[in-house]
Amino acid sequence: MDTMADAGLAVVPLDAPLGAEIRGLDASRPMTPETLAALEAAWAAHFVLLLRDQSLDDDRLVAFSKNFGALDPPAPSPYTGESFLPAHPELNVISNVVEGGRHLGTLGDGEAVWHADMTYVDVPPKAAILYALEVPPAGGDTYFADMFAAYDALPAELKKAIEGRVAIHDAAHNSAGMLRKGYEEVTDVTRTPGARQKLARTDPATGRKALFLGRRPHAYVVGLPVAESDALLDELWAHVADPKFAMCHKWRRGDVLMWLNLCVLHRRDSFDGTARRVMHRSQIKGTERIV
Ligand code: SIN
Repeated sequence: MDTMADAGLAVVPLDAPLGAEIRGLDASRPMTPETLAALEAAWAAHFVLLLRDQSLDDDRLVAFSKNFGALDPPAPSPYTGESFLPAHPELNVISNVVEGGRHLGTLGDGEAVWHADMTYVDVPPKAAILYALEVPPAGGDTYFADMFAAYDALPAELKKAIEGRVAIHDAAHNSAGMLRKGYEEVTDVTRTPGARQKLARTDPATGRKALFLGRRPHAYVVGLPVAESDALLDELWAHVADPKFAMCHKWRRGDVLMWLNLCVLHRRDSFDGTARRVMHRSQIKGTERIV
């Protein structure tokens, strides 16, 4: 039985190495258990799902997100140390807009480098859901790269070099390079604050291995001299940045993008800072320690 088709939904793979569009789903409405199971299966198969033309207020974004598990509150605003949405502290705001001196959200208008979200905590969120309220006319595209495919394609000697190795994932900076409230600049990567995670993660559901890199700046491979750690990380990052592992999403207002945070990396292009870009994001709590 095809439960997606039965529910009037279609899974349309993107013209890319990963990702699929789900057609026919109104994320503002409750889902049957069968539809939810089919959606979760599509998510597990494609890692990134796109829903177009959605209309969600924050309550509905929260309700839709909770279908997939308990929510993981975001890091506080790097400007104030508080939530961007006091009525919904479980949501984050990704935005460049400043109104009356107040930053509506984080990450500004610059490039956000390749990263996975909050891997600097011991148990990172397993997924994220990003909803576009306002998009700039150009730029601000978001890219996702498949870390299973990247692991599979590693040369044998690099697989061997990372076997059993653990890296520190920087908690001090966000993916736009901004220092988080309460942290000091990192001057010695062996003392970078943040969780230690295996460089090669084994997916508990499938047994497949994926690269698990977090983000490049201020990372350190534990136990190696800094120069060797830097050389190894540079080689791994050059490998994962190959476009053959990636998809690019050009945003439209009303898009919902959902990604499996432990399976993909993402990055965002810069855009014209005089244009407005406003997105609300939820994260689903993880359960996995990557050690
Ligand atoms: C993020 O890194 O979660 C934000 C991605 C984006 O702004 O498109």
